Amino acid sequence: MQFQNDLDTLSRIMTTIEESNQLKDLDALLDRVLLDARRLTQADAGSIFLVENNVLKFSYIHNDTLFTTPSNKYIYSSQTLEINNESLAGYAASTGETVILDDAYQIPAHMPFSFNPSFDEASGYRTRSMMVVPLKSSREKIIGVLEIINALDGQKKVIPFSHRDTLVLNYFAQHAAGGIERAMMTREIILRMIKMCELRDPHETGAHAHRVAAYAAEIYQQWALNRGIAPEEIKRMRDLLRLAAMLHDLGKIAISDLILKKPGKLDPEEYQIMKYHTIHGARLFENATSDLDALSAEIALNHHERWDGQGYPGKIGNIYADHPPMGEGKKGEEIPLAGRIVALADIYDALVSRRAYKEPFTEEQALTFLREQSGQAFDPEVVAAFFAIYDIIGAIREKYLENSVSSELLAESS
Ligand SMILES: [Fe+2]
Ligand SMILES: [Fe+2]
Repeated sequence: MQFQNDLDTLSRIMTTIEESNQLKDLDALLDRVLLDARRLTQADAGSIFLVENNVLKFSYIHNDTLFTTPSNKYIYSSQTLEINNESLAGYAASTGETVILDDAYQIPAHMPFSFNPSFDEASGYRTRSMMVVPLKSSREKIIGVLEIINALDGQKKVIPFSHRDTLVLNYFAQHAAGGIERAMMTREIILRMIKMCELRDPHETGAHAHRVAAYAAEIYQQWALNRGIAPEEIKRMRDLLRLAAMLHDLGKIAISDLILKKPGKLDPEEYQIMKYHTIHGARLFENATSDLDALSAEIALNHHERWDGQGYPGKIGNIYADHPPMGEGKKGEEIPLAGRIVALADIYDALVSRRAYKEPFTEEQALTFLREQSGQAFDPEVVAAFFAIYDIIGAIREKYLENSVSSELLAESS
């Protein structure tokens, strides 16, 4: 029996290592790592913190007692912890040691940290047994902390974590850290591409890209749940969308500064040139070698189409032709789903953001606009999905505030 258990454990660890070697969005990978860590130790809840700019950033959470799907507003919390002995995660990150507690509310006096009960107080949850493991990359650098909470026995009663749990989780964390580090690098490379665009066009900020991508992933998930799409397909598509949607305006790199940086409104001729950023963007992913490339091209090309057929660039014979003429607008479901979703996410974000040439809409004005445009600019099902997850939209806005993302990158590279 124990032998069979150990075999299962090993095979689960191997599968995670294998999966983390594939290109993955960071959030999707954290979800997977947390799920496997909890399964290996029969834990009810857990969270992951990642090191960013010398603090621990709250990055992912599961809690089977409080919520069944991982997609909820807690994921977009912007909580951070100092890397020092005050908190459990801070202690694990600063010392590289694993911490095991049988009851978080009765920490032995010789331990320097204390447990922060604010999450329990706000949610009504009762944290008891805990295991806090540092995530170390292959170069022994600590990239984050994995916290596993409330080990359960067969009767769902909370018990302490065992010695076996500690061994298994430490081994697992070592391997998971490599994959997480790679996913962080993928995101950083994408952010640097956006940074290049931002140098040309100050409207296209890293924070805008992050928000649009997170909105798009969440709207898609709700849309797909409404449609009864299979959970595996939802995960796959959500993961791809989270990365591909960030690159929706990459084609602006090919548009002249005179147009991108023009302070006032574009004249009709300039606007016509600007519209070509959709085609330039799609061309950047020529010879798509992965699903991610293909989806990025699809989004770049279609994120300005409108449900009523009045958008651009419309149906185009060959996007690689020399200056192809814009075609008749794609209409309704002729527009790929990802294009329909990013169109709404992009416009909502632009409306409520302050830009040099305009005051932002109030939240109420923006929501009224989205409702009015349901069936005109936007796919009604996409609008409905947006409103169904409106609390998550708010949490995303708070997480990716303007300047937060670009200043992170600058701080890192200086
Ligand atoms: Fe665009
Ligand atoms: Fe945009």
